[in-house]
Amino acid sequence: AQALLAPGDLAGMRVVVSAGGTREPIDPVRFLGNRSSGRQGAALAAEAAARGAEVTLVAANIAGDVLAEARHPSIRVVSVGAAAELAEAMKREAAAADVVVMAAAVADYRPVEVSNRKLTKEAGGVPTIELVENEDIVAALAAARKPGQLVIAFAAETPEDEAELLARARRKQQSKGVDLLVVNEVGWERGFESAENTVHIFGPGGTEAGMASGSKRAVAAAIWDAVAQER
Ligand code: CTP
Ligand code: CA
Repeated sequence: AQALLAPGDLAGMRVVVSAGGTREPIDPVRFLGNRSSGRQGAALAAEAAARGAEVTLVAANIAGDVLAEARHPSIRVVSVGAAAELAEAMKREAAAADVVVMAAAVADYRPVEVSNRKLTKEAGGVPTIELVENEDIVAALAAARKPGQLVIAFAAETPEDEAELLARARRKQQSKGVDLLVVNEVGWERGFESAENTVHIFGPGGTEAGMASGSKRAVAAAIWDAVAQER
């Protein structure tokens, strides 16, 4: 067990990490987005590379300063924009991966129609943007995984209390069919842009496989420890 925690314990492992948040276009200048900065995903990529893994970071709209935290000879960055592009990239990259970590915040819905020209007030009235649901990428990756491949999902929750947080996490781990689900609590002032994070890690059957609090890099280390235990 000690060897699992030593530096280089992920040597030779091929991992794909998605990070950031998707942007669903409305017109050439507007999108539906979310507040995910990509910091936790960038930290996961950096930590995996430091421990010897070959990493592909699928980056959805991550700012340059955050991406710079994941600069490493063993990290290859693939940039994507909308959920459909992220889905395509993840399916392609997952084919050769031992571990797939879906840390990106994916828009649940996208506009049915994307206007090629900027929506303008001159059209009169207030526009209604009709939405359609996006594919659940991590559920698709979990359903298609090859023997021995691990698929890890994330969930950002805004629960009433700890009990609701844990109950939602267990449900999600099971409904998505993933090997591990990493849950963190977010709010107006918690989670997204901050350097610190607190997570609970759930394994098969909703068993708690770990818990971590601290810098996003420290949380990343705890997540890779949990992954190393699963393998
Ligand atoms: N996810 C995904 N594809 C989607 C939506 C979510 O792959 N279309 C992934 C996220 O990357 C994350 C996990 O699913 O790893 C959980 O995301 P979350 O938004 O918490 O789950 P949802 O099933 O969308 O549930 P909710 O209704 O609470 O948003
Ligand atoms: Ca969602």
